[in-house]
Amino acid sequence: MIEFLHSPGFLGTHANLFADLTLLLSLLVLLTFSIGFSLAIKGRYETHKWVQTAGVIINVILVLWLMVLPYRNLILRDEGGPREAIFYQVTMLHAAVGFFAFFLGSFVVLRGHKLVPKFLQFKNYKLFMRTAYGLYLATTILGLWLYYTWYVVIENPPIF
Ligand code: HEM
Repeated sequence: MIEFLHSPGFLGTHANLFADLTLLLSLLVLLTFSIGFSLAIKGRYETHKWVQTAGVIINVILVLWLMVLPYRNLILRDEGGPREAIFYQVTMLHAAVGFFAFFLGSFVVLRGHKLVPKFLQFKNYKLFMRTAYGLYLATTILGLWLYYTWYVVIENPPIF
């Protein structure tokens, strides 16, 4: 199975199936958050809560499994490098914004389920949720740029 996921992807770039699926799933997570957003605007808060919870859980799995490890190997350890500067710059920018999206989004969901201590149970839902959504959106756009840099632009594309 793992070997199959390392075979060439379906988008016609230098990426393998793992990377193409990560991209597709990240876009689906963003779509999920956007549907959840519109549910909140319509006042359907209970459905909104579960839709956003599903999105955050899929995102946590994607980041911890398919992003943290390549970041450690290809950026921190520079395996197969050195590569063009843009490779490191776009990835570090993506990871920095993604770090805040990941933790704020996960925190907002935990707060929604009352799984954080009382003093962290904010009441200003709009501010926290809109900020988390904006960060997810920005990180996904940076992820698209990252994908394009890694698998289309640079001369020595990484294989993970
Ligand atoms: C909400 C949080 C995040 C979102 C929505 C997100 C989204 C994305 C997207 C859309 C891609 C392009 C798909 C691909 O190249 O396979 C990507 C790739 C990547 N991201 Fe993230 N990301 C997030 C957080 C992070 C964090 C915190 C790190 C740093 C540890 C990180 C490191 C990477 C790396 C190294 C890749 C390339 C993976 C590969 O192609 O093998 N991301 N991310």
